[in-house]
Amino acid sequence: MPVTVIIGSQWGDEGKGKVVDLLSSGVDVVARYQGGANAGHTICWEDRTFVLHLVPSGIFHDGVTCVIGNGVVIDPVALMKEIDTIKQLGFEVDGRLLISHNAHLIMPYHKRIEAAIEQARDAGAIGTTGRGIGPAYVDKFARSGVRVVDLLDRDVLRAKLTRSINEKNEVLKKVYGADTLNVDDMIEEYIEFDKRIDPYVTDTTQYLNGALREGKRVLAEGAQGSLLDVDFGTYPFVTSSHPSAGGCCTGLGVPPTAIDRVMAIVKAYSTRVGNGPFPTELEDETGNALRKVGDEFGATTGRPRRCGWLDLVALRYTATINGFTELAITKLDVLTGLPRLAVCTGYRYGGREHTRFPSDLKTLSSVEPVYEYLDGWDEDVTNVSRIEDLPANARAYLDFIEAYLGTPIRLVSTGPKRSQTILAGLETA
Ligand code: IMP
Repeated sequence: MPVTVIIGSQWGDEGKGKVVDLLSSGVDVVARYQGGANAGHTICWEDRTFVLHLVPSGIFHDGVTCVIGNGVVIDPVALMKEIDTIKQLGFEVDGRLLISHNAHLIMPYHKRIEAAIEQARDAGAIGTTGRGIGPAYVDKFARSGVRVVDLLDRDVLRAKLTRSINEKNEVLKKVYGADTLNVDDMIEEYIEFDKRIDPYVTDTTQYLNGALREGKRVLAEGAQGSLLDVDFGTYPFVTSSHPSAGGCCTGLGVPPTAIDRVMAIVKAYSTRVGNGPFPTELEDETGNALRKVGDEFGATTGRPRRCGWLDLVALRYTATINGFTELAITKLDVLTGLPRLAVCTGYRYGGREHTRFPSDLKTLSSVEPVYEYLDGWDEDVTNVSRIEDLPANARAYLDFIEAYLGTPIRLVSTGPKRSQTILAGLETA
């Protein structure tokens, strides 16, 4: 059976962690294809909550192999900490986690450079997560990055790190007037990772293609969201990788023809962390209520998320890029109690109404959203287990989304727990 890709359809934080966790029980492999420890995938069991940053959410399911693909940038310190925590929770990691030998590493100088760049940008700062993601991808594409495979050969690692650290120290000192790093200390620290990371490192592309040939079911997990894609997002206020479906092929080495399902994770309203245009943002009491009820604070940085109404113009755009075959609507329960819900179906700019998502930042920053209004509902939906048992107005809201995007809704999440999920024609195991 081919690959299902799970995509964040907005600006990230759509609830991918919960959906991947749910779907993991029915697959053999879960593979993460881009991003790094900037992601925070929250998983809630009945009584416990855990946030994963690098390891795919499938790790909590026996018999599922988890892959960190070549497209991910790995902070070895964060990864080792996460592996230790998962083991302490009582889950098997050894033999179940595979790390691509081609994945690039995030080094302390990446974080330091990122902090210096953000500070120098001042009001134009991206508002990054500060995890060194951008500078690590810059080094990858400048062909000067350090890869996982380099950790396994001390001589290569020593040579590469010496060159890189000396180079970055010059930049830190001369361009940004920032503190530099000690070459020997860093080399000693990173040389220690070879012993710890060695058992997990392999050619994950070969593994994944072999698994597909054997008929295994693969779930590909994206981080962030399509509107943060470096090519298709609200550039430059984006992350430095490809959260959209194309990233799955380049970040794992699986052919596009292996993908047969692309599931969009759509939060029932919109949120964004960091800077950049957000046409349906609500800087009022309703926005504050969504933040409070939806607990909209960054899983990685704790920053308050900006909140707003659902934006169907943006969603139709990400649907076009990704070719969504089905939708999973999350956090429907957060809308309960709002008397009237607005849904953005157009943007007004240049004296006309448009349904196209503008590609230039200036236009996007100035559009006026055109809303359609739907009645809200007061009934508690957190324990509803069938679509037909939802309040009529909640069903009308879902129908509206489905009709606008022309894509079926297969899952509705009505609370953070696994049990708070409505499956609409979707098998999880
Ligand atoms: P970076 O990925 O740390 O470089 O941050 C670039 C932009 O992406 C910033 O606006 C971040 O807030 C945003 N971002 C990165 N990761 C996430 C995520 O997992 N959820 C939501 N926003 C994110």
